[in-house]
Amino acid sequence: MNEQQTKIRAMLADRKGILLVHYYARPEIQEIADVLGDSLALAQAAARSDARVIVFAGVHFMAQSAAMLSPEKTVLLPRLDAGCPLADMASPDAVRKMKQAQPDAVFVTYINSTAEVKAECDICCTSSNVIKIIETLPPSKKVVVLPDGNLARHAASVTGRDIAAWEGCCPIHQALTAEDVTARRREHPRALFAAHPECRPETLAVADFVGSTSAILRFAHETKATEIIIGTEKGILTQLAKENPEKTFIPASGALFCADMKKISLDDIERSLATLQPVVTVPRDVSEAAKKALDKMLALS
Ligand code: 13P
Repeated sequence: MNEQQTKIRAMLADRKGILLVHYYARPEIQEIADVLGDSLALAQAAARSDARVIVFAGVHFMAQSAAMLSPEKTVLLPRLDAGCPLADMASPDAVRKMKQAQPDAVFVTYINSTAEVKAECDICCTSSNVIKIIETLPPSKKVVVLPDGNLARHAASVTGRDIAAWEGCCPIHQALTAEDVTARRREHPRALFAAHPECRPETLAVADFVGSTSAILRFAHETKATEIIIGTEKGILTQLAKENPEKTFIPASGALFCADMKKISLDDIERSLATLQPVVTVPRDVSEAAKKALDKMLALS
């Protein structure tokens, strides 16, 4: 640990705080995490922790979920402008309209959504439990999955269920094409390709494995292959290399970079711990309904 990392760890101890870090965050922040994980693991950690302060190194919807799951804690997001373009692709008004058009459908919202949208939905999911969550729903029910259309289509193809897909996407995963993968395979003919379900269907169709960030880490560890093309944000390469020093990981494209996930720096975390700002809160009327959707997901996970 360098001097600043050591200082941050001491400040966390002073504040009775924990640092929750997503796999896409900067490597120097991943190194000092209390919990380094995917969206589900971070939500579970926020719900279970007895810390007084949670510092989130991720994006806004993750800190909002932590604030709803642990309302008695101070939840800090060191950069409030670390957002998620996908989460902003569904507005509560638009969801309400769709609910009027489909009054009998079950509305499943990806955790990458605003608290206001979660408040309109029946249950949340993440990319690591979407299949499991959908399989618990009565087979006769029509299902709407939002805001990620690619995740919805992937879930429909795995479960065989009638799923209406909202037309949102993560611009970073959406930009990865099957041609990009073909080009990488040409350079690394023995490599397998692991993709995140936020990728477009044509890209997932050429994948050897499809799963969340934690599922990709598991796959990379368990496979006999020694070269793996990675179809998700490049931040995950830090943990992949750490867990599998003997294997080679190849980014499927040079564009798999999420500027929002990289916004938070060690300086931001240090400042945030010194000032206990900026705090993320959710208005009580929104959080009461949104937390129900989150709690249902956690109970099934
Ligand atoms: P995971 O739940 O797989 O970590 O995905 C989070 C995310 O935001 C993907 O873009």
